[in-house]
Amino acid sequence: MRVVEAFRTAFGADPATVWRAPGRVNLIGEHTDYNDGFVLPFAVPWGVTAAVSPRDDRTIRLLSLQAPSPEPVVLASPEQAEGWTRYVVGVLAVLGDRVRGADIAVDGDVPQGAGLSSSAALEVSVACALNELHGLGLSPMEVALLGRRAENEFVGMPCGIMDQAASALCREGHALFLDCRTLGSRNVPLDLAAHGLRVLIIDTGVHHEHAGGGYAKRRAECESAARTLGVPALRDVTDLGAALARLRGDERRRVEHVVTESHRVEAVVGLLRADRPLDIGALLNASHLSLRDKYEVSSPELDVAVEAAVRGGARGARMTGGGFGGSAIALVAEDRLNAVRQAVTSAYAERSWEPPRFLPAIPSPGAHPLT
Ligand code: GLA
Repeated sequence: MRVVEAFRTAFGADPATVWRAPGRVNLIGEHTDYNDGFVLPFAVPWGVTAAVSPRDDRTIRLLSLQAPSPEPVVLASPEQAEGWTRYVVGVLAVLGDRVRGADIAVDGDVPQGAGLSSSAALEVSVACALNELHGLGLSPMEVALLGRRAENEFVGMPCGIMDQAASALCREGHALFLDCRTLGSRNVPLDLAAHGLRVLIIDTGVHHEHAGGGYAKRRAECESAARTLGVPALRDVTDLGAALARLRGDERRRVEHVVTESHRVEAVVGLLRADRPLDIGALLNASHLSLRDKYEVSSPELDVAVEAAVRGGARGARMTGGGFGGSAIALVAEDRLNAVRQAVTSAYAERSWEPPRFLPAIPSPGAHPLT
């Protein structure tokens, strides 16, 4: 394994353990996780492999096969972390006295900027390795929560639990139906191939930065609306009509999206359980319109990808992930794949945009050891 060889070269010994954790794509349930709602992501075939050994001192040595320099970054304290190392050091910082230093080499193949959660894959792969090495006994959900804390408190991105939970808990051939309040989850079989279907990821290649901006703003609007409505979280809105009558402007639209989106997740799960995946397309389309018009987190590149995919014969399509760029997904019958790809490519060419990238989304395993 490439990462083990790099570890040996950099640190002069074999790693004590190697873990692989995947990125994710979200089938439906966008911007619902931090509102205590439902999500339905699945793991993608791309992820991060982390080779890790514990150290007796507090030094942290980090090597990434994707970094420009072949030399490890050496940190005497977590405060020195910058760039990609923050996600790893954040995990160590959150674990505090339960761990000391570590030698870590990582190798990732999640397409960058596509919104497929390379950062969650990095956090979860390292957290799983440290969990094993230090006998911490953390469950996969506890590992996910650790990754989220690293990101919230150390990196400063106020994300919800979806990405880390998907990376830690997904199973091959399944989507993860997660209740983001109780953290109860179920692996829902997603055998699209049996129905001649595929999920196509359309990476727009455009990423409008949202870490400090739009994402945090949406989250604050939801929290403010919940306060106005006197509920702990938007999950607790039971009478949508009555709630909307009490809200104005942006907050009204945000609530409408969050509440209807969580219902759409339950509807999709119902259809998948009834072995009717062909019928989820309309819900994917509705999700996109809601994200575009009510939550306002889409982008022209995502809208064009979704519209062209549907025109080209997709059963349904939507932006996926946090928005403001990144990727869309399309549910496509195998015999329409080329037509859909062509329709999207032509729509981009007409606008003189860089061609988008197409990736097949195959529901893949969650985090697992490779040693
Ligand atoms: C990002 C966040 C997730 C989730 C999605 C939107 O991916 O990391 O927690 O909020 O956006 O659904």
